[in-house]
Amino acid sequence: MHSVTPEQTLAEPAMQELLNMLGINVEYTRAEGDTLHYVGPDGTPETVVDYAGGYGALVLGHNHPALLDTAVAFLNERRPVLVQASRQPAVDGIAARLNDIVSREFGTDERYFAIFSNSGAESIEVALKHAEFDRVLRVRSLLEEVEARIAEVSAQAAAGTVAPPPGADGDLLTVLSGLRRDNAEAAARPPVFIALEGSFHGKLVGSVQLTHNPSYRTPFASMAPAARFVSLDDLDALDRIAEETRAVLRDVRVVDGVATVVERPIPVVAAFVMEVIQGEGGIRVVTPAQAERIRQGCAVLDCPIVVDEIQSGLGRTGAFFASSQIGLAADYLTLAKGLGGGITKTAVTLVAQRRYRRDFALVHSSTFARDGLSTAVTTKVLELLEAENGAAYLRAKEKGEKLAEIFHDLRRRFPGVVREVRGRGLMLGLEFTDQSHAAAPGIAGVSANGMLGYVISGYLLRAHRVRTFPTASAANTLRFEPSLDLADADIERLRVALEVLCVVLRDQDEQALLGGGAG
Ligand code: F0G
Repeated sequence: MHSVTPEQTLAEPAMQELLNMLGINVEYTRAEGDTLHYVGPDGTPETVVDYAGGYGALVLGHNHPALLDTAVAFLNERRPVLVQASRQPAVDGIAARLNDIVSREFGTDERYFAIFSNSGAESIEVALKHAEFDRVLRVRSLLEEVEARIAEVSAQAAAGTVAPPPGADGDLLTVLSGLRRDNAEAAARPPVFIALEGSFHGKLVGSVQLTHNPSYRTPFASMAPAARFVSLDDLDALDRIAEETRAVLRDVRVVDGVATVVERPIPVVAAFVMEVIQGEGGIRVVTPAQAERIRQGCAVLDCPIVVDEIQSGLGRTGAFFASSQIGLAADYLTLAKGLGGGITKTAVTLVAQRRYRRDFALVHSSTFARDGLSTAVTTKVLELLEAENGAAYLRAKEKGEKLAEIFHDLRRRFPGVVREVRGRGLMLGLEFTDQSHAAAPGIAGVSANGMLGYVISGYLLRAHRVRTFPTASAANTLRFEPSLDLADADIERLRVALEVLCVVLRDQDEQALLGGGAG
């Protein structure tokens, strides 16, 4: 039997080494709301305010009492967890409730069909697969139509009743068999997916190709189609992609006994995938004008828009769907993280009726999707969020404004330390100025190595009992994603912590920053 000490693990040791180095390798033993508990090395109980919020999954905090009651009751009643292919009212209820929210926030009466899965990346892969299924079926049906006509004209050509197009190279039968060959080739072209620079859509084989960070993506580039990445600052790129990727089937018409070849465009871009507020990319907000430009570009491309609300959804930004705040009604919406209420795992891909293919259910499934326990919890999550006319969303907005005010104030007072404040509601990013050329060599060194944000979060935890993280793709930006019930006392703890941190950075006090602080 292998014994394991805190310094030694067989479960991905690289992660453990990073935690040890930053002095944040803490074992939390209890969690409620935005508070985590641990016992210090000398046996003293400590509390930490959790602004990392389970990478944004803890919309209702840790161990929300009503969600625990739901789960415990479910288990005590011995209700079935796994009964696939049976009547599942909770699943239907979640789909209906999400539709009510879509109708209200987007002002649409179009229905969205819900496909359940278990994680964010999986819900993205469901969207990618569905979009490609839809594209392939559209191409296939056009190909069948064109082939039928070519067969019909071939019969007429054999009977000598139709002349080839003027200037054709060879007789009509040769021309038609050339069309068949070109069409088969065009129809078999692989799909193109488009995503935004700075995006994060998951790390599974398909989704990682839509995740911009090259270190995550490029080692696996040969495993799934590469995405085309466009910058929010150059959305005209969508029109250029439309031109570059244009593909057609060549059809034939007979007018006055003469055959003419006509082009029928086919969809090549399977989907455009985007976050409304890029999370892992460092909290970057898409504006209504950019959303409108994306909508136009995707109309030209004849491709659906997949809006990834895995991190921004469930009320965090002040509305259930952040995309409703920028007027972007997507063809696909993906949700995960908070849907599980912090204790279970549920993800949903919503597909607009205009795109939905019923037969997708015959080609895609997952053992654990729609499980009884998770869907009971998700039902309760939606009930809590939607209670009292969406009071939770208003709370997120108000608490977010308070945090943003604190951040902006720090930026004004410490202009050399705080670079930018970004985000909306309780999805906020605080970017620190690069310190690579700082006076203190220790601080300059960690900054040059891309570790500044990690070192700052280590300091905030050790010295102030505040937990927050940068992201691998924006290492100078700290992310703040607490629960919608964030207490004013916790806001105050953060304010004090950040203020002291700014003084430490301004004064280049590397002993305080790197040395362990209040330990
Ligand atoms: N999409 C977005 C917008 C995400 O933020 C994440 C995960 C995913 C998809 C993938 O979800 O982890 O459940 O498979 N974001 C985490 C982060 C990892 O750091 O923000 P998953």
